Amino acid sequence: MKEITKKIRSLCKRRGFVFPSSEIYGGFSSSYDFGPLGVQLKRNIKEYWWKEIVQKNKDVVGLDASILMNSDVWKASGHLDSGFADELVECKDCHQRFKEEEVEEECPECGGELTDPQQFNLMMKTLVGPSEEKADTSYLRPETCQGIFVNFKNVLNTTRKKLPFGIAQIGKSFRNEISPGNYFFRTREFEQMEMQWFCSPHHDKKPEDWFDYWKEQRLNWYLDLGIKEDNLRAHEIPEEERAHYAQRQVDIEYKFPFGWGEIEGIHNRGDWDTSTHTKHSEDDLKYYDEERDEKYFPNVIETSVGVERSMLAFLTEAYQEAKGGRADQSNKEEEVVLQLPKRLAPVKVAVFPLVKKEDDLVKKTKEVFDELKQEIHCQYDERGSIGKRYRRADEIGVLYAVTVDFDTLEDDTVTIRDRDSMDQIRVPIEDLKATLKKLIKDEVKFKEAGEEV
Ligand code: GAP
Repeated sequence: MKEITKKIRSLCKRRGFVFPSSEIYGGFSSSYDFGPLGVQLKRNIKEYWWKEIVQKNKDVVGLDASILMNSDVWKASGHLDSGFADELVECKDCHQRFKEEEVEEECPECGGELTDPQQFNLMMKTLVGPSEEKADTSYLRPETCQGIFVNFKNVLNTTRKKLPFGIAQIGKSFRNEISPGNYFFRTREFEQMEMQWFCSPHHDKKPEDWFDYWKEQRLNWYLDLGIKEDNLRAHEIPEEERAHYAQRQVDIEYKFPFGWGEIEGIHNRGDWDTSTHTKHSEDDLKYYDEERDEKYFPNVIETSVGVERSMLAFLTEAYQEAKGGRADQSNKEEEVVLQLPKRLAPVKVAVFPLVKKEDDLVKKTKEVFDELKQEIHCQYDERGSIGKRYRRADEIGVLYAVTVDFDTLEDDTVTIRDRDSMDQIRVPIEDLKATLKKLIKDEVKFKEAGEEV
């Protein structure tokens, strides 16, 4: 594992972003648990996606379909066929298994001979029902979007939407990956944020035009969240490598320390899903176009992001270290600052008493904290020196640190320190919450928000 990924992994474990799953039982391969900061970061990513995709688009509505579905869905979608299988090879000596396409990079350590490639389906099977003998085989969904396709008519009939419109959903997906890895880049359980844009092949704006539109929207989403242009690319996937349902596919990739990796897929699925589910379910998913007075299968443009994968990209982009310390060169160790964008930072504000031994200061600080926490995600910290508290806050990406000191007891003002510039301003307590809210929303420049210290 690359040095920088090791450092991010260690930070995530140490500070409570990500833990290995089932650790007290020796762990469970490639499964991860998201700790107090990790769960908040994930929530912030999902909330921002939902805001941009659902809340701000009058033509996109939300859905939350079940993970377990009728197995016929997966027969129809092609996921039970070779379209959703990897080529697997096994070492005849040590029985390690690899994806055929990755054999050159990851040969068995023992150097043994490999079997011929065999198809290995990635669907996760499970049994449904009270007794094993009578149980039905079901599957944990490998993508959330099939729940959207099978609800197309329900949503159409209840919302009375007209083409084009979208249905969006966030939820867990499962794939029995042969070679999970690169920390939590590829896992067997993950969350997806998917949007299916149903559009007409007969309108002036064609599905291909919508493809370009959504590709741009989605690239901008990452740029808005601070990913540098040099670290982001749209990779056009050639026909022979595309998913079985895709007429066109662009992968949005991030430059991870281990190389370029897909974080989102943009797919032109044509009428694959609406026509195939019509054929298999015998329920007609054609759309009646009033203006044209004809029925046809809607086409689908899909945007599909992995929550954890994008989180790994945001963490990697945000991770900065300063040898010898950020403020001066007085620290023997390197200091870390996680420069997460304001929207994503799991904790927005830290509140400190200058010293913890003074009862009056602590009492005042807790009052400030209690007031702020009603509207801002903040944390209280009184351990160690003020310098150490700043460093702990920087390491997890806290945007602003508020310090209550002896002057506060005289004049009811506090200092706010900015994570990135480390500049400080002084503001009256009565303006504190409003000032912080403006700063978090980027509505005022830091030094203009108070009196410079
Ligand atoms: N419905 C289309 C679809 O699922 P995909 O390209 O297979 O398309 C979309 O997956 C996104 O889901 C990927 O770009 C990635 O972010 C995430 N993803 C897929 N498999 C994953 C895995 N094994 N672990 C983590 N994330 C995964």
